[in-house]
Amino acid sequence: ANAGDEALALERTVFDELAAQSQGRAVEIEAVAKALAAVDVLAALAEIAADANWVRPKVDDSLDFEIVGGRHPVVEEALRSRGEPFVPNDCDLTGKIGKNCSESGGRIAVVTGPNMAGKSTFLRQNALIAVLAQIGSFVPATKAHIGVVDRLFSRVGASDDLARGRSTFMVEMVETAAILNQASEKSLVILDEIGRGTATYDGLSIAWAVMEHLHEANRARALFATHFHELTHLGQRLPRLANLCMRVTDWNGEVVFLHEVAKGAADRSYGVQVARLAGLPAKVVERARHILAELEQTDRRAPVARLVADLPLFAILESQSAAPAKGDPLRTALDALNPDEMTPRAALDALYALKKAADS
Ligand SMILES: Nc1ncnc2c1ncn2[C@@H]1O[C@H](COP(=O)(O)OP(=O)(O)OP(=O)(O)O)[C@@H](O)[C@H]1O
Ligand SMILES: [Mg+2]
Repeated sequence: ANAGDEALALERTVFDELAAQSQGRAVEIEAVAKALAAVDVLAALAEIAADANWVRPKVDDSLDFEIVGGRHPVVEEALRSRGEPFVPNDCDLTGKIGKNCSESGGRIAVVTGPNMAGKSTFLRQNALIAVLAQIGSFVPATKAHIGVVDRLFSRVGASDDLARGRSTFMVEMVETAAILNQASEKSLVILDEIGRGTATYDGLSIAWAVMEHLHEANRARALFATHFHELTHLGQRLPRLANLCMRVTDWNGEVVFLHEVAKGAADRSYGVQVARLAGLPAKVVERARHILAELEQTDRRAPVARLVADLPLFAILESQSAAPAKGDPLRTALDALNPDEMTPRAALDALYALKKAADS
């Protein structure tokens, strides 16, 4: 028992000494820990870059965003363990592309396509590539050119925050508001389906207005995944808006996902087919198919085509910057004043006269 006590006391003394010594050299120890952490991160990134065939991105001050053969590192790894290949995809959000597009600002890609086709994966892989490039890592692609992104905004998925008094849709809108209020020309925005948590037309209208705002006001580079196929018509009006879609083919009446991003707009979402794949009871699937056919008869496209043609593009912006209407009496009175030729007394009188005119 004595030996045990002595051993314990000895241990405590040694420990206290060590603690005191480390305290005395806390600054050096912290510096070494930080350096080791940095080496650890860099070594890990180097290892994965070599193993997984990543490339060195070109990062500069431009507004370009050009990824060739981009991959999602986590999904790719998960598929590899199941022996399935990941399909690499290109992404170009460089603003100044196209014959009739000379204005600056990033390109917005509207990504449509069936459920399960890979839209969300595509959005996130590009955001991840931007993050990796800017922390100094190689990236999962065959080529990448990224103009420095000042902030990366993402709105993804449906979640709520009931404890803080926010419903699912409220969370979605709060996040969208933050993006529209803060994103700049140098930002990168990924929006994975907005306007899904409310009535179809409310959602579509919000998504539509959000896209116009992103294009006209924020001018950020953006990827926007949506099942509102109506939004693809906006490409006719907004020069920096490009439509991308996920390719699928039909094989014996089944949808086959190719996971390939192509130019153009998808015409449908194959939601009912995907629901069947997920194991919804056959009766429900059959009934849904029937209802879908009925609904598709009441054409949603006609009014949308008209909206694209009729709606003054982003009228809010114009009205914000517009000068007050001509013929405003106060304005006329102000125009008539020439401060350089007035005495202080006359200026004061003029101010009182203006105030009186405004009040009356
Ligand atoms: N490029 C790809 N190559 C191979 N498989 C892919 C690729 N992209 C996605 N997948 C596979 O498809 C699955 C579904 O992808 P994702 O969630 O991105 O679809 P989605 O189009 O967003 O569907 P939804 O409209 O239902 O949200 C992924 O979990 C992945 O297994
Ligand atoms: Mg998705």
